[in-house]
Amino acid sequence: MGILDKNKHLEEADKKYVWHPFTQMQEWETETPIIITEGQDCFIKDIYGRWYLDGVSSLWVNIFGHRKKEIDDAIRGQLGKISHSTMLGLSNAPAIELAEKLVRMVSQSIGQAQGPAPTKVFYSDNGSTAVEVSLKMAFQYWRHRGFAAKNSFLSLNNAYHGDTLGAVSVGGVDIFHNTFGPLLFKTFKAPSPYCYRCELGEDCRTCGLACIKKMEDTLKHHHDEIAAVIIEPLVQAAGGMIIAPQGYLREVRRLCSKYHVLLIADEVATGFGRTGKMFACEHEDVVPDIMCISKGITGGYMPLAVTLATEEIYTAFLGEFRELKTFFHGHSYTGNPLACAAALACMGIFEREETLKKLQPKTDILEERLKDISGLAHVGDVRNKGFMAGIEMVKNKDTREPYAWEDKMGWKIARHALNNGVFIRPLGNVIVIMPPLSISNENLAQMLVVVKGAIISATS
Ligand SMILES: Cc1ncc(COP(=O)(O)O)c(C=O)c1O
Repeated sequence: MGILDKNKHLEEADKKYVWHPFTQMQEWETETPIIITEGQDCFIKDIYGRWYLDGVSSLWVNIFGHRKKEIDDAIRGQLGKISHSTMLGLSNAPAIELAEKLVRMVSQSIGQAQGPAPTKVFYSDNGSTAVEVSLKMAFQYWRHRGFAAKNSFLSLNNAYHGDTLGAVSVGGVDIFHNTFGPLLFKTFKAPSPYCYRCELGEDCRTCGLACIKKMEDTLKHHHDEIAAVIIEPLVQAAGGMIIAPQGYLREVRRLCSKYHVLLIADEVATGFGRTGKMFACEHEDVVPDIMCISKGITGGYMPLAVTLATEEIYTAFLGEFRELKTFFHGHSYTGNPLACAAALACMGIFEREETLKKLQPKTDILEERLKDISGLAHVGDVRNKGFMAGIEMVKNKDTREPYAWEDKMGWKIARHALNNGVFIRPLGNVIVIMPPLSISNENLAQMLVVVKGAIISATS
């Protein structure tokens, strides 16, 4: 088969056999799919040799670019030893070494300012499973402590914690989650700290964190039923890159301690430098009881996730075999050695290349360009925390009237950007800017020029 025939076959076979996530396949089938064959640095190449800037880090996972030598070598090195063995009844060297390093990193990052940092590492494979583990762990912890009524959770409107049913139960993005309502367990909801569209109708300059007061009302009346508050610290990412006002996260921590509920920090999107610190909790000196991490942990190479718990939580599960205090949870690929080797390499790169130190000047460029973009006619709000940024498009800037879902404004902008060599993926009306942390100043600036042009083209 010639190369052109092979490409054609791939395009047809994709439509015939593959069901893509979060994709209306009826539309997909009418278009020619872009099929990626190669990556280098911050760029990805399709089967026709066209290169695109990977503006969303391959769904927020890539940190150091594609084909990073140290990670390639680490995986190759591990391949020469063993690719997988189970963590049920056995252990493996990369998983142990990674756990040790992670615990040290977490304690260095978030410190012990408000209590002991999590010290026990429970492995799984993706962000959703890290969240499932955290929910089951929190629930079972309270049962062991004799608080059997703590059967529910408090989560936020606009929250996104993944697509498995536990994670969806604590989610709050209606468009994604409403369909599954009948399958979900009941949770308590608190307002989203979405200042641009405050659901309480407040003005963030004067409200004194009114959304926190609402959360406190719920905790005051229902803490006996609530095992944990689960939160995406500082940035509600998939909900639309919603940045919590300063002091919000710290208040959530204070309320959790006051009302004896655990705090689960879902750092799946925010972890590994995305917000400018290794973990978002660090910005407000917050120490969670349970922490979920995934995405950037392997630099975007391999599926891996971790749920970290404090010693106190871990200890509550200890007992005689017959007592059935065991945490009955696990996955086939838990602690996969290839993934752990990739993660170990990543942690080495963070230290050696001083990734976080180098991020600040790039964040300055990002913020400068966002400010410029904010002046455009249909840009309602621009917001960022470090290298997580969103541009919210509106039909009417004065009234903040959003574009209707079916207007597909985000998608139109993404299409224009793609035609100019930048791959981005919107969240409804919010354009997400989240390139690899290693992107060069020049590529970042160029990406934002393309995004600005795409906004102008799509809205005029
Ligand atoms: C905060 C947060 N938690 C959990 C998840 C789910 O991760 P995964 O897609 O790996 O299951 C995501 C994914 O975007 C996320 O942003």
